[in-house]
Amino acid sequence: MEMTKNTILITGGTSGIGFELARALLELGNTVIITGREHAKLDEARAQLPALHCVVSDASDPTAITALREKLTAEFPDLNVIVNNAGIMRKINLNGPETDLVDLTREIEINLMGPLRMVKEFLPHLRSKPAAAVVNVSSGLAFVPFPISPIYSAAKAGVHAFTECLRVQLKGSTVKVFELAPPGTETKLFRGDFTKEDLGGAKAMDVKVLAKHAVDGLKKDTLEIRPGLANTLKLMSRIAPQFILKQLAKPAEAMLVKNKAEAPRT
Ligand SMILES: NC(=O)c1ccc[n+]([C@@H]2O[C@H](COP(=O)([O-])OP(=O)(O)OC[C@H]3O[C@@H](n4cnc5c(N)ncnc54)[C@H](OP(=O)(O)O)[C@@H]3O)[C@@H](O)[C@H]2O)c1
Repeated sequence: MEMTKNTILITGGTSGIGFELARALLELGNTVIITGREHAKLDEARAQLPALHCVVSDASDPTAITALREKLTAEFPDLNVIVNNAGIMRKINLNGPETDLVDLTREIEINLMGPLRMVKEFLPHLRSKPAAAVVNVSSGLAFVPFPISPIYSAAKAGVHAFTECLRVQLKGSTVKVFELAPPGTETKLFRGDFTKEDLGGAKAMDVKVLAKHAVDGLKKDTLEIRPGLANTLKLMSRIAPQFILKQLAKPAEAMLVKNKAEAPRT
C-alpha cells in the first residue's frame, strides 16, 4: 500500500506495538489517530509525539466503537486505514477456583470482538475511499496456541480466521486486508503477566524492529506479515503441529505442577 498521506486509526496506541507503529507512520507523513482507555496515557503518548491525535475509546465496548466512528468520520473524513491493535494477554489456569465468567473472556471481548465490530462499523466508510486498508494484529500464537494463555490463543486464532474471511469478502474492493502476526515482542504485554520461566527464556523482538517489519510488509503489500518467530510458528504448525504444541505447552505444564505443589492439602 501507499505509505504516505493516509489517515490512520490505531486502536491501543498508548504503548508497545501500537505506539511504535504510530511513530513510524507519522514519520512517513501520515495523519495518525490512536485510542486507549485512559486520558492520562493518551496525554503521555502525545507528549512524546505531538502530532498524534488521541481519542479515549474502549475497544471492547460496542457503543464506544459506534461513537468513535461517528466522531472520526466527521473530524477526519479522509480516514482510510484502521489498525486493530488493542489487546491484552493473561496467564489463566482453567483449573483455578475463579468463577467470574465475564472476566474470563476479556481477551475475546477486546482482542477478537473489538476487531470484528470495528471492521463492521468502519467498513462502509472505508469502502467509500479510493484506497483503504484494514490491518488486524493477530500473533504468532494464532498459528500454534500457548496453553498457559488459553483465552488469548483462542482470540488470536479467531482474528486470523476472521481476517482470511474478510479478505475473501472484500476481494475486488478498494479495501486491502492485512494481518500483522507479531512474534514475542518486548512490550508491557509480553512482560506483564508472565515470569521468565513462563516464557521459557524466549527472547523477544525489539518493538522498533517489529514496527519496521510491519511498515515494510504493508509497503510491499504482504497480506500476512509474520516477522521472525511468527513465521517459524506458522511453518511448524504445518509440518510438525504436535511437536510445536508440546514445546509451547511446557509453561502451562510447569504452572500446573507448581500450583498442585502449593495447594493446601485436604
Ligand atoms: N508483545 C507481544 O509479544 C505481542 C505478540 C503478538 C501479538 N501482540 C499483539 O500486539 C497488540 C499490541 O500489544 P503490545 O504488545 O503492544 O502491548 P501493550 O504495550 O500492552 O499495548 C496494548 C495497547 O492496547 C491498549 N488496550 C488494551 N485494552 C484496550 C481496550 N479495551 N480498549 C482500547 N485500548 C486497549 C492499551 O492501551 P491502554 O492501556 O492505554 O488502554 C495499549 O495501548 C496486541 O493485540 C497483542 O495481542 C503482541
